[in-house]
Amino acid sequence: MPVASVQDHHTSWTPESWRSFPIQQVPSYSDTESLHAVEQRLSTYPPLVFAGEVRRLKHHLAQAAQGKAFVLQGGSCAESFQEFKADIIRDMFRILLQMAIVLTFGAKVPVVKIGRMAGQFAKPRSSDTETQNNVTLPSYRGDIINGAEFTPEARKPDPLRMETGYFQSAGILNLLRTFSHGGYANLHKVHLWNLGFVEGTPLAHRYRVMAERIGETLAFMQACGIDATSSAQVDETEFYTSHEALLLPYEQALTRVDSTTGQWYDCSAHFVWIGDRTRQPEGAHVEFLRGVQNPIGIKVGPTACAEDICRIHEILNPQNEAGRITLIARMGADKISQFLPPIMRSIRDQGKQVTWLSDPMHGNTVVTQQKFKTRFFDSIMSEVKNFFHICATENVPAGGVHLEMTGQNVTECLGGSPLITEADLAHRYETFCDPRMNAEQSLELAFLIAEELTARS
Ligand code: PEP
Ligand code: CO
Repeated sequence: MPVASVQDHHTSWTPESWRSFPIQQVPSYSDTESLHAVEQRLSTYPPLVFAGEVRRLKHHLAQAAQGKAFVLQGGSCAESFQEFKADIIRDMFRILLQMAIVLTFGAKVPVVKIGRMAGQFAKPRSSDTETQNNVTLPSYRGDIINGAEFTPEARKPDPLRMETGYFQSAGILNLLRTFSHGGYANLHKVHLWNLGFVEGTPLAHRYRVMAERIGETLAFMQACGIDATSSAQVDETEFYTSHEALLLPYEQALTRVDSTTGQWYDCSAHFVWIGDRTRQPEGAHVEFLRGVQNPIGIKVGPTACAEDICRIHEILNPQNEAGRITLIARMGADKISQFLPPIMRSIRDQGKQVTWLSDPMHGNTVVTQQKFKTRFFDSIMSEVKNFFHICATENVPAGGVHLEMTGQNVTECLGGSPLITEADLAHRYETFCDPRMNAEQSLELAFLIAEELTARS
């Protein structure tokens, strides 16, 4: 395949122009006939999201860049086909909403809720292969590509999985839309919401105290004539979806022209991001996302340099549109103070529009002696605190957080007030990829962030 030169970024974009750029982290499908048939079918299926919603999210992200909103983006590292269940989706939605309420109370600005849900199925891996007991197989790359089981059959990339990914995303989105707009998210019910796995903990008490105060405020507002009938915000919530735009054949197939503007949108999710491993300015992922109008996230890890991030910004956002680019810092608690400030300054001094989020997860992964991939709750909190501090010092609004978490009571991250120890990890270690905070740890983090935001406001 011919490799494009730098100049190609200035030539015309098509949904498939990425195919002539160097690409990382994609599977090689041996059954090309089946691949093409799936791509063809997917390209005729209905879009999962609409351009108008995507534009609305972009506006909210632009607000967050100015400190007038705060983004809460969260969900699993990798969704799994097995977890396609109402309870799991509801628990994730509920914990995100509960965290959003805690954050709204602390930040005193609207919280923009974005799930790593309904499409977060493809994973970049540090190695193409995995060896167990002298057997080497392709690495697991997420359920939309292959199976996690360590067998040659499961690990073979299967194009049909893209279709399953699409239908599951549609099902998850349907439930999320029902929860958001069908009355479940009514603020009057905040105190009635089942706290799920957090019930009975000191955090539950703290949450109830806050819910009571919200109840009093709502009663006051109602007396003033503001209630669910006059204000949709009381009865409904906006909830957006996102995932890493890694598997480009899938993303391309869901890319459509919006009839009102004539512009291209990736209709697989509202927000898509480029991972730390695939953000090469001259690579296929940047080329693909250049042509769609969605808000785009870019992960910024400790190996990122200011020049590269500025170059990516120029390619993806030549008009310097607000809300288009979100930079997601994932440096590690011990590295952020050294590596983030120069990049933040450079972007700021060049007047580039960006929304800054903190991903305090991906730079803080450690492996225990028992070979569990985990993260310390204290490192997560420490990276977030450092992020807020750096933003304040550089006079750049802290736009929000990007978290790996679940509404279940798993034992994947260490510490937090339930004090998960190394010995506990084996009890409910259920992630298919990176370790997630459980419901209690997630709510605790939300309270700590809210305190931090209150102290800084
Ligand atoms: C992720 O978000 O799950 C991920 C792989 O992140 P990063 O690209 O920052 O490593
Ligand atoms: Co992850």
